[in-house]
Amino acid sequence: MEKKYLFSPGPTMLPPEVLLKMAEPIMHHREPEFERLFAEVREGLKYLFQTKNEVLIFTSSGTGAMEGTVSNILSKGDKALVVRGGKFGERWGEICKAYGIEFIPIDVEWGKAVDPQKIQKALESDPSIRAVYTQASETSTGVKHPINEIAEIVKKYENTVIIVDAITGIGVFNIPMDEWGLDVVVSGSQKALMLPPGLAFAALSDKAWKFVERSDLPKFYFNFKKELKNAQKNQNAFTPAISLFVGLRESLKLIQKEGLEAVFKRHEKLAEATRSAVKALGLELYAPDSPSNALTAVKMPEGIQGGKLKNLFFEKFGITVAGGQDQAKGKIIRIAHLGYYEKLDMVMIIAALEMLLKEMGYPLELGTGVKAAEETLIK
Ligand SMILES: Cc1ncc(COP(=O)(O)O)c(C=O)c1O
Repeated sequence: MEKKYLFSPGPTMLPPEVLLKMAEPIMHHREPEFERLFAEVREGLKYLFQTKNEVLIFTSSGTGAMEGTVSNILSKGDKALVVRGGKFGERWGEICKAYGIEFIPIDVEWGKAVDPQKIQKALESDPSIRAVYTQASETSTGVKHPINEIAEIVKKYENTVIIVDAITGIGVFNIPMDEWGLDVVVSGSQKALMLPPGLAFAALSDKAWKFVERSDLPKFYFNFKKELKNAQKNQNAFTPAISLFVGLRESLKLIQKEGLEAVFKRHEKLAEATRSAVKALGLELYAPDSPSNALTAVKMPEGIQGGKLKNLFFEKFGITVAGGQDQAKGKIIRIAHLGYYEKLDMVMIIAALEMLLKEMGYPLELGTGVKAAEETLIK
């Protein structure tokens, strides 16, 4: 028998409630039925993003919304500051480059969080910086960046906005957009939202909307002003991924029923259990100082090749975990626990990890990691 499990930081596993709804016959996106659905989804997203403002929805992967926050927020000649602590930080720089936006990188060692003081210094020395681009959770390294502290700094600059890629942050840990004064928050469907890939989200503060008003960079599909006008009529500018919207209504209901605070607590618990299990096995965390609760990046011990372990996970148990990218290739594996995961899922993945490591010749006593995970989970 073949059973498959996703423990990758996107796409993630899906709840049956969501899957069943998405299998229903498709509706038309210009019918009143869809508009009613859209209205519900708009409210659910405001709850999830903790904002009073509109959360725009695009039919694209998360990168589409990221690109939109460059082409809609900035203007020709603007300068940006980019936190580069992994693959997704690098992506901000690549998008800026594609739009001819000069950017100053703040390079952060992989596995470490950015020091907000570096952002403070950069803004002090160059007041022409119009936007600070960062991740809330850098998925390639498993790091959580100090978004609240960065926002406190950027707030002091009237002509600068903070733009947060919270693709593996939203619905995982607390990112209260309005309370912290975040200007733009971006997310995607295939992570904590428990949906397939295909929807991207962007929420903007009033300050960010002023930037949109003056933006003169080229844009067409990802046109925030146009999408806002349509959203206010419970419509999309173009044909949306209707089935994903149907799934979204369901996953938002699940999140609202559990409650945001409980959702964050559950993620914290699963992350802590994973981290304690890994440490009990004598393994090291790749991001020990500021780990994200979305995923755990585990350093491979001497003699264990990350790529091989990742392949064995799939071959032996049908489990997909993520490997390392670029400089972390072969050196880490990444175990996700964001979205539709509960306590015993983590016991299972740790048990699989133990069995595979043992098979690969790593010295361990079976049950050591599982015990540590269980002890954390029942606390
Ligand atoms: C932090 C982060 N940013 C951006 C992306 C890119 O999203 P997508 O692959 O949906 O375009 C991802 C996806 O893995 C991510 O984890």
